[in-house]
Amino acid sequence: MLRTHTCGELRAGHNGQTVTVAGWVDKYRDHAGIVFVDVRDRYGKTQIKFDLSDSSDVQALARGLRYEDVIQVTGMVEPRPEGLANPKLATGEIEVLARELVVLNKSKTPPFEPDTSALPNEELRLKHRFLDLRRPDLQKTIIMRHQLTKAVRDYFDEHQFLEIETPILGRSTPEGARDYLVPSRVHPGCFYALPQSPQLYKQILMIAGFDRYMQIARCFRDEDLRADRQPEFTQIDVEMAFVKREDILQMIDGLIGRLVTTLQGKQIKLPLPRYSHAEVMERYGSDKPDLRFGMELVDIKEIATTCGFGVFKSTIEKGGRVRGMRVVGAAEKYSRKQIDELTEFVKNYGAMGLAFFRVKSATELDSPIAKFFSAEDQAKIITRLGATTGDLLFFVADTPKVTNAALAALRSRLGKELNLYDPTEINVAWVLDFPMYAWNEEEQRWEAEHHPFCQPVEEDIPLFDTDPGKIRAQSYDLICNGYEAASGSVRIHDPAVQQRVFNFIGITPEHAEERFGFLLESLRFGAPPHAGIALGLDRWVMMFGNIDNIRDVIAFPKTQKASDLLTGAPADVDSKQLRDLHIKIDAPKT
Ligand code: AMO
Ligand code: AMP
Repeated sequence: MLRTHTCGELRAGHNGQTVTVAGWVDKYRDHAGIVFVDVRDRYGKTQIKFDLSDSSDVQALARGLRYEDVIQVTGMVEPRPEGLANPKLATGEIEVLARELVVLNKSKTPPFEPDTSALPNEELRLKHRFLDLRRPDLQKTIIMRHQLTKAVRDYFDEHQFLEIETPILGRSTPEGARDYLVPSRVHPGCFYALPQSPQLYKQILMIAGFDRYMQIARCFRDEDLRADRQPEFTQIDVEMAFVKREDILQMIDGLIGRLVTTLQGKQIKLPLPRYSHAEVMERYGSDKPDLRFGMELVDIKEIATTCGFGVFKSTIEKGGRVRGMRVVGAAEKYSRKQIDELTEFVKNYGAMGLAFFRVKSATELDSPIAKFFSAEDQAKIITRLGATTGDLLFFVADTPKVTNAALAALRSRLGKELNLYDPTEINVAWVLDFPMYAWNEEEQRWEAEHHPFCQPVEEDIPLFDTDPGKIRAQSYDLICNGYEAASGSVRIHDPAVQQRVFNFIGITPEHAEERFGFLLESLRFGAPPHAGIALGLDRWVMMFGNIDNIRDVIAFPKTQKASDLLTGAPADVDSKQLRDLHIKIDAPKT
């Protein structure tokens, strides 16, 4: 070893010992006659003192040290002088008086210093990810990610799960995003698809008798990226045979309990709360509401039906809804200009406008549109929303879908702006019974809401012929702080039901046989009832680290445009490689 101790290890108890540490030059200060250098590694920082009155080569070398040089220092651990201890640093009580210094490697002048509070722009950081990853914050996250992954594996191992790898080069799976394709050299014109998830393989593992499977699985989806989405991400993928929905919920409750204890040293109340999809949509307008704060949506149909405000009235007449919410004590917190901004904001979600009222007294509202509401209606609105003087009320009148989308987005935004929750809280809940199908307006057809392998709720099966939009799936999502953090379902294990579902969503028997024939065939050879779930590992790291950007929880992430700025991927390839693959490029000219 090139060191006796790490840079985070030395304490007052080591005083008087001769030690060797190694790491990166984090800071250097030249104080008339003494050079101080902080040396950093992933465990921490240690202050090294070079006494220049001793005119050895070591001191001359020390003067030449610059940021990010890699050094090895041997010296004596000493207490820092009276009053100069640094309580913010774990090693803050000591320093090492250097006797030997080896410069293991010089660094070019770095484009930014890893441990600076003024972070440079993300592009520069991603391009020099090797420096960026030296940042203590990022190192902390990567270490936590390891701990989380290990806790997951330990938990499932204790419950007799087997971790089984499934192929990366496979057939297209039906998670609904676009596939990444890999051309085959051996089969000209044929392609593998990178897995959007191990969904079909894990079902086949159940049929094969591996009744408890888990995998830390890499998934690939060519879709539009957002702050919580990467083209390449990781799932905690789980499947169990001979189980009902309840068994999965309990198993995953136990996992979340374990993670909270391991990573936060806290207890979370189990079982986790459960809501139906219909209930969260009604109360929060979203299937993944942030439950760290209230501010629930309220329907004011009765008042809207008879009030004098045309927009509200006509919306109800057209079968729409008028819903709103109460923002406690916010009447004076939002200026007219800021409310105009919020109005523009909800328009992004399809709303035509945003009606607002300031609550003036227990019975009186103040707003440019207050004149359209009788004194009686004003009092009714206040009562209906449980409002009091000083509150701000917002309403959207539109189709049910638009009121959901606009108000849910407004609720999230206001919750954040008004600090309505503790950002370090982890609030987890189940959302159950999603609709099985959604109507695709554009293509005029039904499509699977989750994926086409979910088992419908038994009692809803007759609805196939009458009201398919009402069929509920035996599915479940875990939501956490406004994110969809996991998703799963009880699967179909009867090939006839599977075929019926394919038919219904417009996959013909021939097409089904061609794409999923291997699954249908395996279902015909003794498939046990089975169910499963996948948790978005990156998103759980975000939640436990209180981090907003998924790129900050992945060592080598891709940008919004799916590029890797460090390596320059994706990139051109040799024409020989293309010839071997029988591929001709027909790219648009840029
Ligand atoms: P689903 O597609 O819902 O289900 O994915 C499961 C979970 O993975 C996370 N996730 C993502 N995280 C980061 N970037 C992405 N692009 C991304 N896409 C999804 C989410 C999501 O809840 N095979 C099914 C699971 C099953 O039924 O067992 C599936 O993949 O947290
Ligand atoms: P207008 O009648 O368009 O001048 O709008 C009067 C007020 O009602 C404005 O504050 C609009 O933002 C609001 N408004 C208009 N349409 C809607 C709607 N569909 N839902 C809620 N408020 C609306």
